[in-house]
Amino acid sequence: MTVPSFEEMWAELLPVGRSAASGGYRRFAWNSADAECRAWFEQQARGRGLAYELDRNGNQWAWLGDPTAGGAVVTGSHLDSVPDGGAFDGPLGVVSSFAALDELRSRGAEFTRPLAIVNFGDEEGARFGVACIGSRLTAGVLSPEQAYGLRDADGVRLPDAMEKAGYDPTAIGADEDRLARIGAFVELHVEQGRCLAEGQPVGVAGAIWPHGRWRFDFHGEANHAGTTRIEDRRDPMLTYANTVLAARKKAKQAGARATFGKVAVEPNGTNAIASLVRGWLDSRAADERTLTELVEAIERAAAERGERDGVRVELTRESYTPVVDFDGPLRDRLAKLLDAPVLPTGAGHDAGILASAIPTAMLFVRNPTGVSHSPAEHAEQADCLAGVAALADVLEDLACQ
Ligand code: GLV
Ligand code: MN
Ligand code: MN
Repeated sequence: MTVPSFEEMWAELLPVGRSAASGGYRRFAWNSADAECRAWFEQQARGRGLAYELDRNGNQWAWLGDPTAGGAVVTGSHLDSVPDGGAFDGPLGVVSSFAALDELRSRGAEFTRPLAIVNFGDEEGARFGVACIGSRLTAGVLSPEQAYGLRDADGVRLPDAMEKAGYDPTAIGADEDRLARIGAFVELHVEQGRCLAEGQPVGVAGAIWPHGRWRFDFHGEANHAGTTRIEDRRDPMLTYANTVLAARKKAKQAGARATFGKVAVEPNGTNAIASLVRGWLDSRAADERTLTELVEAIERAAAERGERDGVRVELTRESYTPVVDFDGPLRDRLAKLLDAPVLPTGAGHDAGILASAIPTAMLFVRNPTGVSHSPAEHAEQADCLAGVAALADVLEDLACQ
C-alpha cells in the first residue's frame, strides 16, 4: 500500500479553505472548507486500511485494531482554523499523526493496544464562539442544550448548521463509553510562544493556563454624528475604547493576557453614534485567581466608564476552561523518552478538555517566531519531521509493549 508522505499530505491540505486575499485559512465549523478537510481525513484513514468512524459529536476517528478492546492510544488534533488562521495550528497534529503511523509501520512495529487518529470538530470556536465544541461535548463539559443555544454571526443555530452539513444534531452529547476505551491521548501541536530554542525541535506540555471568553455589551443611544452635541451623547464606542485600554493596562500589571479581538457595532453607520457595541474579551492567566481578579477589574473599569458615558454595560461569560495540569507520569515519561523540555502554554487545546477524563499529554513543535492564529504562522520542515519522529517514538512506547 503506498501512502502519501508528510510533504504530500501537507501539500494536499494547503489550498483548502485558504483565502487568496489574506493568505489565511477560513475553515470554520460545518462550512465547505471544513467539509473538504473532513473528506481528506476520511480518505487518509481508508487509504491506510484504518476503520473510519464518525462519532455522535462530529469528531472523526481512524482506528487500527479493535476500538472496543480498551486501553487505546489516541493521537490527533483538529483541522478547523481561526478567521485567517495559519496552516499549522491543528493540521500539523493530524498530518503528523498519519505520518507517525506510517513510520511505525515501516519500522515493523507490533501494536499491543488499539491505536486511533482523531480529528476533533470545531476546536477554535470561530463560528459559534465556544472553543473545542467536539471534545467538550464528548467530555460532557458542554451540554447538548448549551450547544443548541449557540448561534453564529448570521444567527444560524449550531444544530441547523450541523444538519445542513449532513450531520445529525439530535445525537450530540457526553460519550463516556468512548472515553472509557482510551488509555492515553497525545496531541502534537505547533508551539505558539517562541519557547523552544533553535536545535530544540520538540517540547512536552506541562500545563495550560486557565482561560475564557467574555462578551461585553455596551448599550448607548443612536443619534446623529453631526448634530448631537458632545455633552448630549451616550456613545458606547467611547466606553468600549476605554475598556480596551483598561484591559491592556490591567493585564500587563497582572502578568496575564487580555485581548479584545472581535467587535460588533449596531447600527454600524459612519454618520451615526452607535446604539450598541459588543466586544469579546479573551483573557488568560497562569492561575485562576489572577484570571478572576483581572476580569473583575476590567468589568469594574467598564462599569465606571459606562457611568460617565451614560452607557449601560452587561457582561456574559461565554466559555471558561480551568487550569490544566497534564498527567504527571505521562508528561515525565514523554519528556524523558524524547529528552525534551517541559513548557506551559497560554493556548487552549482539545487535549486540555480531555485531560480531566483521561491521561493526556501534548508535544509542541518549534515555532521560530512564535506567531500563530495568523497567516504568518510557521514551522520549519526539519522541525516538523522531527516532530513526526518524536510522535512515532511516543506511540511506539505507549502502544507497542
Ligand atoms: C485556541 O487555539 C485558543 O487558545 O484559543
Ligand atoms: Mn488555535
Ligand atoms: Mn490548535
